[in-house]
Amino acid sequence: MDISELIEQARQAQKRAHAPYSRYPVGAAVLTESGKIFLGCNVESGAFSTTICAERAAIFAAIAAGESQFRALAIISNDGGMPCGSCRQVIHEQCGELPIYIVGANSQLHKEFSTSQLLPYPFDLKES
Ligand code: THU
Repeated sequence: MDISELIEQARQAQKRAHAPYSRYPVGAAVLTESGKIFLGCNVESGAFSTTICAERAAIFAAIAAGESQFRALAIISNDGGMPCGSCRQVIHEQCGELPIYIVGANSQLHKEFSTSQLLPYPFDLKES
């Protein structure tokens, strides 16, 4: 699968963002092992803390569809912003190590990171 296809899909999701408070639309596209792409956008809430970020929305949509193996994640915003700490934790827990493409306006690739680069020394809940 072409990275540019993943980025284009993330760009389409960014257009659907609901960001009336921050005016910072974000789109995300996650590619699963089965070759499917799941999309997410940020959806803001008037009760701010209930806002959901684009990357978590995409990952959760994939999980709800029964996917659990992930190959790549593209995140797009107008300034090529980095994922927040909460999203880094979820990427670590649900996706494991994978390439994360950070994209800015005009769909140009800003940077590529691995999960462990974005979240070194992660928290893992030990099940007892
Ligand atoms: N946002 C994301 O969608 N992903 C991130 O990783 C960082 C922040 C959203 C949340 C909020 O709607 C807006 O960007 C500004 O924080």
